[in-house]
Amino acid sequence: MRSISVPLDSRAYPIHIGVPEATELCLAVHQYCSGASSFILIADRNVLPIAQKIRESLAVNVSNTAMVEIPSGEASKSIEQLGRLWQQMALLRADRQAVIVAVGGGVVGDLAGFLAASWNRGVRLLQVPTTLLSMVDSSVGGKTGINLPQAKNVIGAFWQPSMVWIDLRSLDSLPEREFKSGLAEVVKYGVIMDPDFFGWLEVNAKSILDRDVQVLEYLVSRCCELKAQVVSADEHETTGLRAILNYGHTFGHAIEALAQYGTYLHGEAISIGMTMAGRLAVELHRWTEQELGRQTELLETFGLPTRLSNRHEPISPESMVQAMMLDKKTSHGQLRLILPSRLGHVETVKEVPIDAILRHADG
Ligand SMILES: NC(=O)c1ccc[n+]([C@@H]2O[C@H](COP(=O)([O-])OP(=O)(O)OC[C@H]3O[C@@H](n4cnc5c(N)ncnc54)[C@H](O)[C@@H]3O)[C@@H](O)[C@H]2O)c1
Ligand SMILES: [Zn+2]
Repeated sequence: MRSISVPLDSRAYPIHIGVPEATELCLAVHQYCSGASSFILIADRNVLPIAQKIRESLAVNVSNTAMVEIPSGEASKSIEQLGRLWQQMALLRADRQAVIVAVGGGVVGDLAGFLAASWNRGVRLLQVPTTLLSMVDSSVGGKTGINLPQAKNVIGAFWQPSMVWIDLRSLDSLPEREFKSGLAEVVKYGVIMDPDFFGWLEVNAKSILDRDVQVLEYLVSRCCELKAQVVSADEHETTGLRAILNYGHTFGHAIEALAQYGTYLHGEAISIGMTMAGRLAVELHRWTEQELGRQTELLETFGLPTRLSNRHEPISPESMVQAMMLDKKTSHGQLRLILPSRLGHVETVKEVPIDAILRHADG
C-alpha cells in the first residue's frame, strides 16, 4: 500500500491506497483511531458487501460495531437522512469516542462526514471511498455537508477525517459511466497543477480504462497528493488557492443545474465545463489552441463528453451565464473564472467579458 500524508498540523492524517490485506486495516485503525468506543458504519446500499468486510475487520479492534444503510443517490444528502442518522446515533448511545466510518461515494462521504462533524460537537471520521471520484476528490480535504431542496451543499462544515482508506478492489463493481465520470477530475489535476501527470495520463490511457490496478494505484495516489497540497495550503478556502480545484466547475455546475440534476453525471458536466473554460482561455489569448486540443483529446479518450448533447433540451448561453452568476463561487456579483495559462497552471480571472463567456457557453 502507498501512504500519503495530508499535513494539517494537529489535524494531519494519512491516506492509504492499494490492495490491502484484512489485517492491514486493523493495524492502521489501531494507530490512527486509538481508543475508539465503537465503529458506526454509514454505508451506501450499493456497496453493502464492501461495508460488511470493513465491519468484520474493524470488529477485531473493537467489538462494538453497527451499520446503517443509506439509499444510493444525491437525494440522500438531505435533512431527512441526516435527522434519521442523528436518531440512530442516539439509539446506539454513541459517545464522543465513537468513530463514524463512511463507506460509499461522495454522497455518503459528505453526509456521514457532516454527521461526524455535528454529533456531540464532533467525533472521529474514517473515509472509505468506493467511487473513483470520491477516491481522488471528495474523501480528501474535509468538506462535508448536505443539500437543501433549493441549493446544493449549503449546509456543512469543514471536518477532516482521521484516516482515508482506499481499497482499489472497490472499483471492480463501479459502473463504467461512474468510473469515466471520475476521470474528469483526474484530468483536471493534470491541467491545473501537473503537466507531467497530464502526459502520464495520455500515455497510460488504455491501462487506465482497463482499470489496471498498478496504474490506478499511481493515478489515485498522485491525485491525492495534489489535492493534499492544495488543501494544506488553504484548508478553509480563504486564501483563494483552493479555488483552483474549481476549474471547469462554474460552467459545470450551471450545466448540472440547467439540464436537471442527474442528466449529466458530475464529471461529465465538468468535462464539458473544462472544455468551455479552455476555449474561453484560448479566445482571451491566455492559452494555446494546441494545449486545449490535448485536453479535449484526453477527455474524449476517456469517453467523456466535451460538448452539450443535442439529445437533451437545449441550454441557452444566456441561461448558462445566469446560472453561473448564481454559483456560490462568484464574489460581489463578479464572475470569477479559473482559466488555464499553460498545462499545469491556472489563474483566477476576475473580469471576464460576459460576451466572451456567451460565445463559449453554447456547447
Ligand atoms: N466533499 C468534497 O470535497 C466533494 C468533492 C466533490 C464531490 N463531492 C460530492 O460527491 C458527490 C458525488 O460523489 P460520487 O460521484 O462518488 O457519487 P455517489 O456517491 O452518488 O456514487 C455514485 C454511484 O455509484 C454507486 N457506487 C458507489 N460505489 C460503488 C461501487 N464500488 N460499486 C458499485 N456502485 C458503487 C453509488 O451507489 C451511486 O449510485 C456529490 O454529492 C458531490 O457534491 C464532494
Ligand atoms: Zn468536482
